[in-house]
Amino acid sequence: MLSPMRILLIGSGAREHALLRALAADPTVTEILFSPGNAGATDTPKATRLAGDPLEIAREHNPDLVVVGPEQPLVAGLADQLRDAGFAVFGPSAEAARIEGSKAFAKDVMKAAGVRTAEAQTVTNVVDIDAALDRFGPTWVVKDDGLAGGKGVVVTPDREVAHAHAEAVIAAGNPVLFESFLEGPEVSLFCLVDGETVVPLLPAQDHKRAYDNDEGPNTGGMGAYTPLPWLPADGVQRIVDEVCLPVAKEMKARGCPYSGLLYAGIAWGPEGPAVVEFNCRFGDPETQAVLALLETPLAGVLYSVATGALSEIEALRWHDGAAITVVLAAAGYPTNPAIGEEIRGVEGPEILHAGTEEVDGKIISTGGRVLNVIGTGKDLHEARENAYARIADIEMEGGFYRSDIGLAACEGRISIPDEVR
Ligand code: GLY
Repeated sequence: MLSPMRILLIGSGAREHALLRALAADPTVTEILFSPGNAGATDTPKATRLAGDPLEIAREHNPDLVVVGPEQPLVAGLADQLRDAGFAVFGPSAEAARIEGSKAFAKDVMKAAGVRTAEAQTVTNVVDIDAALDRFGPTWVVKDDGLAGGKGVVVTPDREVAHAHAEAVIAAGNPVLFESFLEGPEVSLFCLVDGETVVPLLPAQDHKRAYDNDEGPNTGGMGAYTPLPWLPADGVQRIVDEVCLPVAKEMKARGCPYSGLLYAGIAWGPEGPAVVEFNCRFGDPETQAVLALLETPLAGVLYSVATGALSEIEALRWHDGAAITVVLAAAGYPTNPAIGEEIRGVEGPEILHAGTEEVDGKIISTGGRVLNVIGTGKDLHEARENAYARIADIEMEGGFYRSDIGLAACEGRISIPDEVR
């Protein structure tokens, strides 16, 4: 492993703030350039915020490792450009990032790899929408085929709502994907992947709807918890064996081997784990909870992936207990978030910044998901208590959060269906 290590971290959300903290905690790391970053950088002495083009920043500062947080630059080929320029990069090539960037490509890979997923149909013309609606339902899953930050998916029992979303996606110039609805509780499993080596992190569960009891519109994610007390003991291994490994092998066989973080969004239904979606990067907000329990220094692990040495690392070590993250969102999120509100009470290691900036010594909201609060504890109950006690001390006009992150799991209300094999 390289020591000392200087890192360029690309991104600006709470996911990247969590990555920044975890990378900075690694004693081998001496400096992290955080671009464009957010106001959270000031709590990490090793961090410096930089604005500008990532490739130019890398050329000027010559980091030992570049970590790309969000999907857009990966799908656009930033990892390829950086690798071509000689840098070690944590993040897949543009070809491999199509696993998130094109839902049709992901379906094709899954079909070839024999991985369970929803039935799907792509529609590009509004005249074909009704026939697709007839084929699926009574719960319709209608997805924008391109990148939409989690907000391009509508899951609804209302045919008119499904039709309107499909029309809007096509009007915006994208194909629309209709899918059968997958039953069962959802699991987000993040795997480090380097060719055919797959190393899973702890499983987590996201809460995608804006309001309590899974009501309201889909968001980028309002909170998450880890681990999952309701998942069978062999659950993670089954997702690796039945989903992530076959996909990694298929990608390699196609000539676009995967290197980076493969996010498998799973619904665990009567037939076992089935794929809802893949993402080509760490999930947000699940990463904030997962990294809160990681004991192994992160920088060396990501460097191993970037340099093709993942198979050589020791087994990851995790802290006991549970972690949750609760998102504080701005009034109007996700459709029309109010920005420019002052936020008070955000100092401390439990806070991860997302849509924030420091202006004249004050922290101001600049986005829909403003910050995350982390709670850890000996179990999910204690982790929830700690997170909710902390978020209650934060003041922001119009800010809101879900009060039920991890609650159903805590109360034993989640179970997986009996398996039909
Ligand atoms: N947690 C949802 C996502 O990262 O896309």
